[in-house]
Amino acid sequence: MQSLNDMLSESRIFANREALSPHFIPKKLVSRSKEINGIERALAPSLKGERGRNLFIYGKTGTGKTSCTRYVLDEVKGIPNTKAKISYINCKIYNSRYRVLNKIVSDHLPTYAKRGYGTVDLYEKITNWIEEDNKILVAILDEVDIVKDLDDLVYTLTRINSDIRAGGVTMIGIANRISFKDTLDPRSLSTLYESELVFPPYYANELYEIIKDRVATGFKPNVINEDTLHFIAAAAAREGGDARLSLKMLSKAGELADEKGTDKITMKDAEEASKLADTDIVYELIGTLPEHHKLVLYSIALLTQSGGSYKKLTDGVDTYLFSGEVYGRYKSLAESMHKEAKSERWYRKYLSELEMQGLVASFESGKGIRGHTKLIKLLYPPQKTKEVLESEIFGREKKEEKE
Ligand SMILES: Nc1ncnc2c1ncn2[C@@H]1O[C@H](COP(=O)(O)OP(=O)(O)O)[C@@H](O)[C@H]1O
Ligand SMILES: [Mg+2]
Repeated sequence: MQSLNDMLSESRIFANREALSPHFIPKKLVSRSKEINGIERALAPSLKGERGRNLFIYGKTGTGKTSCTRYVLDEVKGIPNTKAKISYINCKIYNSRYRVLNKIVSDHLPTYAKRGYGTVDLYEKITNWIEEDNKILVAILDEVDIVKDLDDLVYTLTRINSDIRAGGVTMIGIANRISFKDTLDPRSLSTLYESELVFPPYYANELYEIIKDRVATGFKPNVINEDTLHFIAAAAAREGGDARLSLKMLSKAGELADEKGTDKITMKDAEEASKLADTDIVYELIGTLPEHHKLVLYSIALLTQSGGSYKKLTDGVDTYLFSGEVYGRYKSLAESMHKEAKSERWYRKYLSELEMQGLVASFESGKGIRGHTKLIKLLYPPQKTKEVLESEIFGREKKEEKE
C-alpha cells in the first residue's frame, strides 16, 4: 500500500497529464489533412465576404471532428480584416434554438447579451448586425444532433439569409450519429447537407501515431515501450477507431502504474486499462445522447433492474425485455416529466441508434413468445447506467432555466 507521503510525492510516470487528456488539442493532427482541407474550403468563401455552402460533418466519436474544426478556427483567427464572424457553439451546452441564438449574440454583441430577450429580439439583433456591413456569420454547431428544436434552429438561421439584403449566414453542423438525419425535417436536411464531410474511424497505425505523440509530452522518458503502445492502439482500433478511447486507455495505464509507485507501464497495466477505459467511455457517451434516447435507455435500465409490469425474461444470466413494455415505461416516464412522448416509430429509431452505439442489443423473439416480438437487452450494468442517466436527466432538469 502507498503511504500518504508517496501519494504526495512526484509521479514517476506522468510529466504532463494535460497532454493525455482527451480534451487536449494537439498542435499536430495525425492523418487528417484531407478533412482539415475540407473545413478550410467550407470557410474560404466567408473569409472573402461571400456566403459559402453549408457543410455537414459526421463521424463516430473520437474521429477528430472537433479537433480538426478547432484547428482550422485557430488558423482563421490570424486572418485580418475579414467579414467572417465565427461562432463555435457546443450544442451539448447550447442545446436549443434560444440558447444558440443567445450564444451568437453574446459572442458578437456582448453589450446586448443580457438575459430576458425573446427569440424574436435575438433574431432581429443578429439580422441587423449582419446587415450593418455585410458580415458573414459562420455558425459552427458541434454535436448539433443534441439541439432539441433543431428544425426550428435551422429554419431560423436560414431565414436570416432571405430577410437580409447583404451579408449572410453559413452553417457548419457536426454530429456523431449518422442516422439522426432521419429525425430531421426534409427541409432542414437539405439545408444542412449542402455539402458533406465524413470522418472515418482511425486505423490502428493512426491511433499509434496519435498516442505516440502524446507519450512524448505526457509521460516521463522510457515509461512505456513500443509493444505496449501497439497493443493499446490495436485495442482502441478494435473498439471502433476512437482516438479518445486510445488516449483514455493510455492515461489509465499510466494511472495504474502510478498507483503501484513504479516508473514503468507494463503490458498488464495496458490490458487492464483497455477494459476499464472502455466502460468509462460508454458512460461519457451516454451523456452525449439526445434527451429522448436518454429516456428510452433509462426505461431499459429501470426495467432491467426491477422488472416491469410484465414478467421479465431471464436465462439465468441476462435479462431480456419486451420492446413493447420498454415503450410503455418510456411513455409514462415522459408523461411524469411533462414531456411529450414520441410515437412508436420514433421509439424504434431511438432503439436502433442505442443499438448502433453498442448500448443495447435486440433480438427477434422467434415463435412462441407472444408471436413475433423484439427483445431488448442492456449491455452495461443497469445500476451504473441508471445512476449516470439520473444525473444527466434530472441533474440537468433542475438547472433548466425559464425560456
Ligand atoms: N488526428 C488526430 N491527431 C491527434 N490527436 C487526435 C486526432 N484526432 C483526435 N485526436 C485526439 O482525440 C481527442 C478526441 O477527438 P475529437 O476531435 O474530440 O473527436 P470527435 O469530435 O470526433 O469526437 C482529441 O481531443 C485529440 O486529443
Ligand atoms: Mg466532438
